[in-house]
Amino acid sequence: MKQPRIVVMAGSRRREALSRRVADACALAVRNAGAEVELIDLDDYPAPLYDGDLEAASGLPESIVRLQQRLHASDGLLVVNPEYNGSITPLLKNTLDWCSRPNPADRARSGGAVYAGRAAAVVGSSPGALGGMRVLFHVRDILGYLGMHVIPQQLAVAKSGEAVGEDARLRDAAQQDMLDKLAAALVDSARRLRS
Ligand SMILES: Cc1cc2nc3c(=O)[nH]c(=O)nc-3n(C[C@H](O)[C@H](O)[C@H](O)COP(=O)(O)O)c2cc1C
Repeated sequence: MKQPRIVVMAGSRRREALSRRVADACALAVRNAGAEVELIDLDDYPAPLYDGDLEAASGLPESIVRLQQRLHASDGLLVVNPEYNGSITPLLKNTLDWCSRPNPADRARSGGAVYAGRAAAVVGSSPGALGGMRVLFHVRDILGYLGMHVIPQQLAVAKSGEAVGEDARLRDAAQQDMLDKLAAALVDSARRLRS
């Protein structure tokens, strides 16, 4: 298979989001592991809170159709997760839910087809000491339900405000090593699943 394409995205669109910096470190690690990386900023894909009446009246938001196309064109997904009360951010859940909806105008590149059979990896990000460890189990479950193959490797980046250096590498060498191994496993899974 040619170079796998991996989408990397953070579950926050906050201007100063710490998870964005962690996503930069993940993007670099995945690129160094041999994949083509698309770093997606959810600020570029704004969507209202999912509402079935809204969908019935107006269909999928244009931003969601664009994001579905990006996901469909990829071989894998790495999600960097801030932790809200031990779980997934509403932004990320809302985005994943919208993208799981079929688009009658483009069935092949919408709904479950944007997730199914692709590799995924989960990384936590928190200014606290646990690095968002608890959200990882929730997101793993959700992505698995969507038909993604979530690799066993995961990483929780604690004190994420200080964790990433100017060179977009994790300052802690042991954590960077774990990230490199996670990235290699993700790229390998994406390659095998999509060949
Ligand atoms: C509603 C809410 C709940 C939160 N719950 C947790 C939590 O359970 N664990 C944690 O480590 N941080 C929690 N935080 C703090 C976030 O980790 C912190 O705001 C973080 O900077 C958000 O991610 P971002 O910088 O990528 O936007 C919470 C923040 C908010 C707004």
